[in-house]
Amino acid sequence: MTQRRKLIYLLGFMGVGKSTVGELLAEKLRWPFIDLDTTIEAGQGTTIREMFENAGEAFFRQIERAALIEASKSEPAVIALGGGTFVQQPNFEYISDTGGTTIWLDCPVEELRRRCEGKNDRPLFRDPASFGQLLDQRLPYYQRANFRVSTEGRHPDEVVEQILRLNIF
Ligand code: S3P
Repeated sequence: MTQRRKLIYLLGFMGVGKSTVGELLAEKLRWPFIDLDTTIEAGQGTTIREMFENAGEAFFRQIERAALIEASKSEPAVIALGGGTFVQQPNFEYISDTGGTTIWLDCPVEELRRRCEGKNDRPLFRDPASFGQLLDQRLPYYQRANFRVSTEGRHPDEVVEQILRLNIF
């Protein structure tokens, strides 16, 4: 088996815990942690919500792609993607070419809804119905990840333990 790069991408829908789990995982591995959304906001000096409102989603996706390419230069690293990053075909191809490992954090829609409701920082969380539709559209893309780990009813520490048990380290 070819040696995979020391690069882990966490992906999955909004609210699944990519940032929380990513930070804890990086701590355990003693690898740097990169949160793509945070990098984008810091680089642009604005929030993602404002980027969507002022410049539109297409512009956000361009910036997101550039941030992905930049982040992937780091090794070792745990990278938490945004909920839509892996769904963009050029990003999927790019990530596959990096030789990193992709882990899909999965969770039932009801739990994701509960976690996102009442927060105002996600421009693509409009209403419960469209939230569910967007998740359905994206599932086939998320399923292309190397591994799937369920976060349902699990504390982030348990999710990290699950990841550490995968045959990738
Ligand atoms: C998005 C998810 C967000 C953020 C942006 C777009 C999406 O990240 O990148 O709002 O397309 O699902 P989180 O998954 O971290 O909320």
